[in-house]
Amino acid sequence: MGQINRREFIARNFEGAAMAGACLCGLSGCATFTKVGATPALPAGACAIEPGRKVTVFLKKAPALASVGGSVKIVDPALPEPLIVARVDRGRFAVVSLHCPHRGVELEYQAAQKQFRCASLGHSKFALDGSKLGGPAPRAVKTYAASVQADNLVIRL
Ligand code: FES
Repeated sequence: MGQINRREFIARNFEGAAMAGACLCGLSGCATFTKVGATPALPAGACAIEPGRKVTVFLKKAPALASVGGSVKIVDPALPEPLIVARVDRGRFAVVSLHCPHRGVELEYQAAQKQFRCASLGHSKFALDGSKLGGPAPRAVKTYAASVQADNLVIRL
């Protein structure tokens, strides 16, 4: 192996260190590591939770659910688990567990396919009825019945 001079040694090692740093920085923002997806949280004051009974989402206070294809997550210690709510059609919503049964990364709603997909690199997919469509998740996700009542969405717990 040939010898390299001091300048070449520094240049090669700096380049390697810089690439390693760039890779780690890129991955640290990845949902696989953070477990957090891109779904916005339901704004504070936009729902009322009756533990063990129901969640009432005040649709006028949830702009992300105003359009078909919109979705929000609801994370609150009063819930049995965090939820993701998607507006599937004008008057129809789907509500499932927020966390993927594989390793707990958040699910996101895919409006074009009308399905939920894990934000991790595993990309497990679930139908609106919670059934698994693909990916490494070991099972379906739990679904929650929801109905529109006046200007509210009522989710049964
Ligand atoms: S955590 Fe969802 S596929 Fe792995």
